[in-house]
Amino acid sequence: MNTCIVGLQWGDEGKGKVVDLLSESADLVARYSGGANAGHTVLRDSREKAFALHLLPSGILRDDVLCVITNGVALDAETLLAEIDQLAARGIGLKDNLRISSRAHLVMDYHKRQDRYSEEALGADKIGTTVRGIGPCYADKVTRTTAVRLADLLDLEGLEKRLRPIVDQKNAIFAALYPGAEPIDADAILDQCRRWAERLGAMITDTTALLHRAWKDGRSMLFEGAQGTLLDLDHGTFPFVTSSNASACGFSAGSGLPARAVDRFLGVAKAYSTRVGAGPFPSEQDNHIGQYIRDKGHEYGTTTGRPRRCGWFDAVCVRYSIQIGAITEVALQHLDTLAGLDEIKVCTGYRRRGEIVDFFPAERQVLDEVECRYETLAGFSEDITQARRFEDLPANAQNYVRRLEEILETPVTMIGVGPSRDQMVYRTGA
Ligand code: GDP
Ligand code: IMO
Ligand code: MG
Repeated sequence: MNTCIVGLQWGDEGKGKVVDLLSESADLVARYSGGANAGHTVLRDSREKAFALHLLPSGILRDDVLCVITNGVALDAETLLAEIDQLAARGIGLKDNLRISSRAHLVMDYHKRQDRYSEEALGADKIGTTVRGIGPCYADKVTRTTAVRLADLLDLEGLEKRLRPIVDQKNAIFAALYPGAEPIDADAILDQCRRWAERLGAMITDTTALLHRAWKDGRSMLFEGAQGTLLDLDHGTFPFVTSSNASACGFSAGSGLPARAVDRFLGVAKAYSTRVGAGPFPSEQDNHIGQYIRDKGHEYGTTTGRPRRCGWFDAVCVRYSIQIGAITEVALQHLDTLAGLDEIKVCTGYRRRGEIVDFFPAERQVLDEVECRYETLAGFSEDITQARRFEDLPANAQNYVRRLEEILETPVTMIGVGPSRDQMVYRTGA
């Protein structure tokens, strides 16, 4: 059984937790898009500190799982090495269980700087990126002649020849656009590349060939999406999106496997909505409800620590993500966070200029004008963090889940009732 996990909202839906759980029965876990802008939290046991993974697939916490970073990823080698070292310090050393695509693109120091300069220059109009250099790295990938791939680390002489003119070009652009920008030193970058090559060289391989072999051999594969469908470069709330295809549409291009290699596309959504960074968010509750959710759900970014914007579950968004991703099941996280609210609202449609809009309009201009139409359900006050079966949930919590299933026309097969591995309610026959 091969499964692809996809975020159905604006990221941080709890993908890391779901991947960690499903990786118990997987032979291989692959990250196929995004980069260190992702922050996937895994809490194995409530007594230990959570792991915050940015680039390593969430299967890395299990010894017998092969972890793969495929071609679609923008790889920040510095962050990856720091992550590898941090895990080793906690007793989880690599055991020949990580492979990285030679076709993945390297995030260079100048990409991170450019991300920062560009955001600073935009001021109030900024995207609110994670400043991890993701946009500039993917922009170089599209430009082609200025891109650096993992394969280049295996040919350092060739890389030196290519990198010097690239650095000259970046310096000229930075000097012209960003007064006060420090010049980039090509030698320092090349030293960094040599260090990366030494530590990562043996793991660099053709992961497309590897995945096709695994598929042919019937290995059980799990694909870990990053970000969420509404942050997808093509299908999300452009321009307030990330620079890769974060929806299920990114799976094939990002991994080299056809979509039919996946038996199920499992969508992950929170029982409410959150977003970090700027951009439209129709069901946002910039009030005491939003603050209640933020406090109770610890809604602060895993990568940047920024407070997340919070709001009601937006079924228009999630229905759209389900449609474009051919999602067959939903893992609904953070149901426990809603406990204590007298009533819970679900946005079931939008109204714009008096007209009903029921298909998600991803254009910013339209989204700025829509108003949510809400359905109000009774809340529940019980602590549900110890629930392990659907029947253990209070009637109003069960009703909320059932109503979401009806609106989404998709079964909810996993329900998160807390951050740790065991805090999950599984529903068979949903
Ligand atoms: P990801 O980016 O989709 O992997 O999600 P993040 O890790 O960035 O954010 C999800 C946060 O919610 C993390 O702090 C998780 O530990 C936590 N979490 C996941 N599922 C649940 C849940 O069901 N209940 C609660 N209370 N926390 C959860
Ligand atoms: P995970 O995988 C939430 C958001 C940023 C910003 C926009 C563009 O943990 O769900 P970027 O740095 O990618 O150019 O930023 O996308 N963003 C995320 N929001 N979760 C993420 O990843 C995100 N990755 C990027 O906040 O709004
Ligand atoms: Mg996250």
